[in-house]
Amino acid sequence: MSTTTMDPKSVLDSHDETELWKALSVDAWKKSVLNEDSVFHDLYVDTRRRIIDACKSHKFDVIVEVGCGTGEVISHLEEVSHIPRIGIDINPTFVEHCQTVYKQPNLEFHVGDATKIVQWWMDMGYDKLYKSPFLVCPNNTIMIMPREIRDEVICNMRSIASTEGRCLITFWNGRMFAHGVMGFYKKNSELCGEFDLSPRHINWEEGSIETSTSYKSEWLKSEDIKVWMSSILIEVSIISPETAATPEINHLAEYGMGVYLWLNGTGIPEDAMSSARDYYDSKDAQEFYSTVWGKNNTHVGRYDLVEANQELSKLPITDKVRKAQLFHEDALISKIHKYYDGTKVRCLDMGCGYGGFLRTLAKRGLLWSGVGVDISGRMIDAARENTTEDSEKVKTTVEFLRESYMNTSIPDEGMDLCVSIDAFLHVGPGQHDAVLKEAWRVLRPGGRLIFSDIVARPDAPPESKVLYERIGLTAFATVPGYFEKAKLYGFGSCKFEDHSSNVSLHYGNVLNAFEDLYGQGKVEVSEEFKVKMCDGLKKWRDLAPSCIQWGIISMRKVEQMSDCSDSE
Ligand SMILES: C[S@@+](CC[C@H](N)C(=O)[O-])C[C@H]1O[C@@H](n2cnc3c(N)ncnc32)[C@H](O)[C@@H]1O
Repeated sequence: MSTTTMDPKSVLDSHDETELWKALSVDAWKKSVLNEDSVFHDLYVDTRRRIIDACKSHKFDVIVEVGCGTGEVISHLEEVSHIPRIGIDINPTFVEHCQTVYKQPNLEFHVGDATKIVQWWMDMGYDKLYKSPFLVCPNNTIMIMPREIRDEVICNMRSIASTEGRCLITFWNGRMFAHGVMGFYKKNSELCGEFDLSPRHINWEEGSIETSTSYKSEWLKSEDIKVWMSSILIEVSIISPETAATPEINHLAEYGMGVYLWLNGTGIPEDAMSSARDYYDSKDAQEFYSTVWGKNNTHVGRYDLVEANQELSKLPITDKVRKAQLFHEDALISKIHKYYDGTKVRCLDMGCGYGGFLRTLAKRGLLWSGVGVDISGRMIDAARENTTEDSEKVKTTVEFLRESYMNTSIPDEGMDLCVSIDAFLHVGPGQHDAVLKEAWRVLRPGGRLIFSDIVARPDAPPESKVLYERIGLTAFATVPGYFEKAKLYGFGSCKFEDHSSNVSLHYGNVLNAFEDLYGQGKVEVSEEFKVKMCDGLKKWRDLAPSCIQWGIISMRKVEQMSDCSDSE
C-alpha cells in the first residue's frame, strides 16, 4: 500500500472546507452514516453495488474515489478487488485512518485537493499507467465541497477519466430532503450541529440546511443537476430508474435516497478520440445519421451497384443511401465467406456504430459470437436498443461495449475475425499503429482483419486538408502506410480492393438527402450544424476524386514473422 501524499500543507491551505472536515472525528462520521438505522445505510450498499456492476460491464483499469472520507466505499469493493483502487481525501486524519485500517493489495490512499488532482495524477505517472479510469465521488461529497470549487472538481475528474473511462457522482436526492432532515441531521446533532426547522436553518424549497455550527448540506433533484451540468456545457439526459442500468451516455437517474450522475471523461489534453466521441455523441450528429443514413449503418455505400440496377436507380434518395450501404456490407460478407468458407467465427467489430453489420452477420448464421465496440455511448445505447428487436438467437450472439477499438477487453487471441467499416479514419495521426496492434493482439494466429476505411491518396494535393478538418483531424492514413505497419506488426496477405469512385457519389447523395429532409422539416438539427455539415459534404463530394481512396483492406495474422508476404 502506498503512502505517497500531495503536500499536506498546500492541501490544508486550499479551502475552508478542510477546517470543517479536519475537525470531524472518524468515529462520529462513520457512526452517523453507516449504522444499520441510518437513512443512508441502504444507499451505501446500493452505491457499492452499482460501482461493482459498472466494473463488470466496462473495462476500467483503476477506480479512483475523490473525497473517500473514511474509505467506506472504496475499501468495500471486494468483488472487484483485482482492479487497483485509489482513495483521495483532503482530510489527513481520514487518509491516515484508511491507510491503517484497510491494508489491502491494490488499494492506496492519498491526501489530496480535488481541484488539483490532474496535475498530481500526471506527476505520479498514472496517466501513462491507466487508460480507462473510473472516477467516483459518491454520497453527496461534491455538495459538501464549497460551491466555487465544484465545477473544477468535476472537470478534474473528467480529465482523469479520459475518453475511455467514466465518472460517477452521486447526490442525496432532493426529493427525500425532509426524510434526511428528520432521519439524519436531527439524529446526528453531535456531528452536524444543532438546528431548528425554521428558515434560519432549513430551506425546504431548495433542499438545504445550515446548522448552528455552520455545517451545510444541499440536496438536489435530478432536474437541478441537469441545469447545473448544462451551465458547464455538459448535456445530460434524465433517465427513468428502470432503464438506467445500461445507458452509456451522460445521464442522471434517481434511486430512492440517491441521484446518480454518470459522465464521460475528456482526456488530458483533448485528443482525436474524444473529439470523435463527442461528435458522435452529439444530438445533432445522432439526428443526422439516424434520419439520413438510417438507424443501422453509417458508412460509405456502393452506388456503382445501385446505379447499375435499373429498378434500384429509381429509388428515392434516402432508400438509395441505405441500399448502397447494404451492398458494401454484402461485399465484406463475401470476403468473409471466401476466407472462412461458412465456418462460424468469433468476430469483433471495431467502431461498430449502430451495430447493423454485426447483427446482419449473426442473422446470416456466420457468428459463434460477436462483440461490437464503439467509443460513442449514444452509438452503443442505440446498438443495444436495436438488438432488442432481433430474434433470441441474435440477442444471445452479439453484445455491444463502449470501449475504444485501440484498447478492448477482448482477451489475447480471443477472435477469429476482426471487422471494421469506416471507423479507423477517426483515430488521428500516428494512431493507426494502435489499431493494428489491437487487432493483432485479439486475433488468433491465422485470423483476419477485414475492414473498409477512408484513406488519403498517396499523391493527394494539399487542399485535401479541408476534408480532414470536417472530422477534426490533421491527416488520414494511406493504403501503403497501412500495409507497411501491418507487416511490421505481424500481418501478411495484405490486399486492397479499390472502390474509391463511390466516395464522391456517397457524399453527394447524402448531401441531397439531407437537404431534402431538412427542407421537409424531417430532420431536426441546429442551423449551425446544418450549415457546417452541408459545407463539409460539398467539399467531400468535390474533392474526394482527387484526394480520397476507399475500399476493402484485408490482412491475415501470420503464424511467423517470415510469413508477412502478400500471398494468401
Ligand atoms: C462512420 S461511423 C461507422 C460505424 C459503423 N462501423 C457502421 O459502419 O455503421 C464511425 C464509428 O467509429 C466510432 N469510433 C471513432 N473512434 C473510435 C475509437 N477510438 N474506438 C471505438 N470506436 C470509435 C465512432 O463513434 C463511430 O460510431
